[in-house]
Amino acid sequence: MRDGTRVIRAGLPGFAQGEPFLPGPTFANPYHLAGDPSSSPYSYGRYHNPTWTHFEQALSELEGGSAVIFASGMAAITAVFSCVLRPGTVLVMPSDGYYTARMLAEGYFATLGVEVRLASTAGDAQMERLEGATLLWLETPSNPGLDVCDLAALIAAAHQQGALVAVDNTTATVLGQQPLASGADFSVSSDSKALTGHGDLLLGHVATREPGWAERLRAFRSQQGAVPGPMEVWLAHRSLATLDMRLERQSTNALEIARLLASRPEVQSVRYPGLPQDPAHALARRQMKHYGPIVSFVLEGKIQAERFLGACRLILQATSFGGVHTTAERRARWGGDAIPDGFIRLSAGCEDTQDLLDDVTQAFATMSTGGEKHP
Ligand SMILES: Cc1ncc(COP(=O)(O)O)c(C=O)c1O
Repeated sequence: MRDGTRVIRAGLPGFAQGEPFLPGPTFANPYHLAGDPSSSPYSYGRYHNPTWTHFEQALSELEGGSAVIFASGMAAITAVFSCVLRPGTVLVMPSDGYYTARMLAEGYFATLGVEVRLASTAGDAQMERLEGATLLWLETPSNPGLDVCDLAALIAAAHQQGALVAVDNTTATVLGQQPLASGADFSVSSDSKALTGHGDLLLGHVATREPGWAERLRAFRSQQGAVPGPMEVWLAHRSLATLDMRLERQSTNALEIARLLASRPEVQSVRYPGLPQDPAHALARRQMKHYGPIVSFVLEGKIQAERFLGACRLILQATSFGGVHTTAERRARWGGDAIPDGFIRLSAGCEDTQDLLDDVTQAFATMSTGGEKHP
């Protein structure tokens, strides 16, 4: 089966007369349980839940490994770090990846005695820092800079050094690229983004081909206790069915917006892995099936970027990415990333392509006349 079919069928329990295709969320803390607890698949809500089981089955089918879900992407990242890293171990991670993951590594795990080494995604710079590494963390395309690294080459080099490899696959999603098939030990994702795509929930997962790691991650989830809610998980499973369609439209919209931006004199630079002139394009083309929803571009400075955002009528000002609504923000407002003040991260949604292009064009025109809504 192809991706468009797989996402619709993934994790559904199969034919059962009179039952729904996808059972509704199960809201339960205790389950009926007499005698030996191992006699029942469900006992207590922090350990397991039938709604989790269906969604984990869906993700496992798509990832080609065993998936364990968490209450957010950061909870999934924390679980991998916590299960793999110990005092004296070495974590190699991108200097330009998701800021909060870097903060968790440098602000918490480093204080426990983990050595954290940073190197950029571009040019596979992490390759040079692998000696003695315990865990290589990759993020490609990186958020927010959209650089791409060579998964197969970095994974092979890390394994040669005896290191495990985790790929944060949030920006690409499992339909954009398959870290486990490329040899990674862990495929990690914030499912708050494109995977579920409606901007209405927080969730994350880790997939692995090694049953022992899946068991350790599950045990960590139960012991640490911040587990996903059944309603979020059910919404996520329902939303997964449209992933292929959403990515197709989002990638088309992102490419057309990137092309338009590249033609504008106000824009100093544009990054989108799907643009033929992008420095990451050749590698992305080899490695990715969809180039994804995120485009980044640089205007002259903070004032110009805020003017542009204030002049957009359809494109919403918000953080996060990957949803059906097109959003954009001046990323430097948060601090923490090495980016210029005029850097905008735009996430293309599923709206009509021409309407989005019209909005970008009118925003530049409005900006030049000083008529923006929220300068
Ligand atoms: C690449 C990446 N990984 C992980 C996360 C964390 O996900 P969550 O917000 O679901 O905790 C984010 C959030 O923006 C992200 O961009």
